[in-house]
Amino acid sequence: MEKPSKNKYPSVASISSKEHIGIVKEIFSTITERYDLLNHVLSMGIDMYWRRFTAKKMRFFKTFRLLDAATGTGDIAICAGATHPGISITGLDFAWNMLKAGRRKISRKGHSQKIVLVQGDAMSLPFSNNTFDVVSIAFGIRNIPDREAAVKEMIRVLVPGGRVMVLEMTFARHSFFRKAIRFYLNRILPFIAGKITANPGAYHYLADSIMNFPSPAEFAGSLERLGLRKVSIYPLTFGITCLYIGLKSEG
Ligand SMILES: C[S@@+](CC[C@H](N)C(=O)[O-])C[C@H]1O[C@@H](n2cnc3c(N)ncnc32)[C@H](O)[C@@H]1O
Repeated sequence: MEKPSKNKYPSVASISSKEHIGIVKEIFSTITERYDLLNHVLSMGIDMYWRRFTAKKMRFFKTFRLLDAATGTGDIAICAGATHPGISITGLDFAWNMLKAGRRKISRKGHSQKIVLVQGDAMSLPFSNNTFDVVSIAFGIRNIPDREAAVKEMIRVLVPGGRVMVLEMTFARHSFFRKAIRFYLNRILPFIAGKITANPGAYHYLADSIMNFPSPAEFAGSLERLGLRKVSIYPLTFGITCLYIGLKSEG
């Protein structure tokens, strides 16, 4: 089989929304088998700490239901299930291969009773208004070109007082960290990814999409403009990842 060239994806800054969505679908259908392994290797295992932190910040008070949008192989869903016994969890993703790998993992870990994975688009959620106490999205919002529309959908399906929780990587603003992270993202990450995955170009896309994501203050500001209250930012591991939490208003 022909190996894809290393840098086959154009920068997200230079493409249309339709092209961006096509790239995301292709990437997450081709890196599935090694996705979990690469996540843990490339973050040196720290991603599991970020997910546990996120799960601990979830609050269930009315429907006791969680939606994890862009769930991938379901790590946030699994972590939330372990942290909050008694809730019911829906994970949603448009990449069938990711869901397939997620289902195998969920069954292996004995969570099949409480976690359901469904195929769907975060831009048009197949759920009624006011269904979930919490809607999370981890490392997913960066892959959605129309972020505002996706956040509006998340707010729609939340109960009043419920929380939107976004976990996302950040490109550091400080120049020393910026240089170090740029080197890691552009050189080390694609090199390691090239040894493990059949599509190293996917990891050039990853670097590019992180570098083109807004700053924490800008992103939090956009959540507020969309109507979320009390938006907080929790910088994790020197701020390379941030957890954003905002509440749906009661009125
Ligand atoms: C980097 S992975 C993150 C997966 C998982 N949340 C995690 O923490 O490992 C991004 C996921 O977002 C999904 N995705 C991107 N855009 C989507 C959309 N519009 N609707 C549903 N899933 C989407 C991709 O298929 C992929 O599984």
